Amino acid sequence: MSLVLDPTAQDLLFREARTANTFTDEPVTDEQVQAIYDLVKYGPTAFNQTPLRITLVRSSEARERLVQHMAEGNQPKTASAPLVAILSADNEFHEELPTLFPAFPQAKDAFFAERGAREGSAALNAALQAAYFIVGVRAAGLAAGPMTGFDAEGVRKEFLDDDHTPLVVVNIGKPGENASYPRSPRLAYEDVVTTV
Ligand SMILES: Cc1cc2nc3c(=O)[nH]c(=O)nc-3n(C[C@H](O)[C@H](O)[C@H](O)COP(=O)(O)O)c2cc1C
Repeated sequence: MSLVLDPTAQDLLFREARTANTFTDEPVTDEQVQAIYDLVKYGPTAFNQTPLRITLVRSSEARERLVQHMAEGNQPKTASAPLVAILSADNEFHEELPTLFPAFPQAKDAFFAERGAREGSAALNAALQAAYFIVGVRAAGLAAGPMTGFDAEGVRKEFLDDDHTPLVVVNIGKPGENASYPRSPRLAYEDVVTTV
């Protein structure tokens, strides 16, 4: 009763949405990915820094290169998912800040002149955007299989550069047979929320 979002949408995004480990062959199009991005780009980040960068791994040659850097248990699903996206943090996001946060263009130099400060902020805010992205995938009627089980340095060298830190690799598609494990329990409200 307290939620205003349509209950069907609540189910689609959370209650019935599951992490997928197998997928059908149905392709995921660039148009779908663009629709997902154009929705979730509005999710908030500090100073609107939006440090998430997305690398779509489409060619079979690139897919093979990625699979080699995945943990063994993640390799078959990364090899077979219709689409795989590498989500990374851009540690040089501050270059865009005067445009992205015109209310305070000095933020670039006042807070993010140091690379260490940028890396910490980029990791947090790109992780937030990765979460928005996963929910966006669900909003498109697709399932996501996010994975951190991979050799980050290997993926960085293979697909990115020194200015980007890979955070999550996400398999995307329609769930296939036996796509999800049994639902694991979640912590109860009382276990998580304290009021002071
Ligand atoms: C950031 C992140 C990293 C994950 N890494 C892996 C992984 O490397 N391999 C894997 O099989 N599942 C991975 N998972 C899947 C989680 O185990 C799964 O999302 C969680 O248990 C909830 O499952 P459910 O959505 O089916 O309830 C990851 C999930 C997230 C969000």
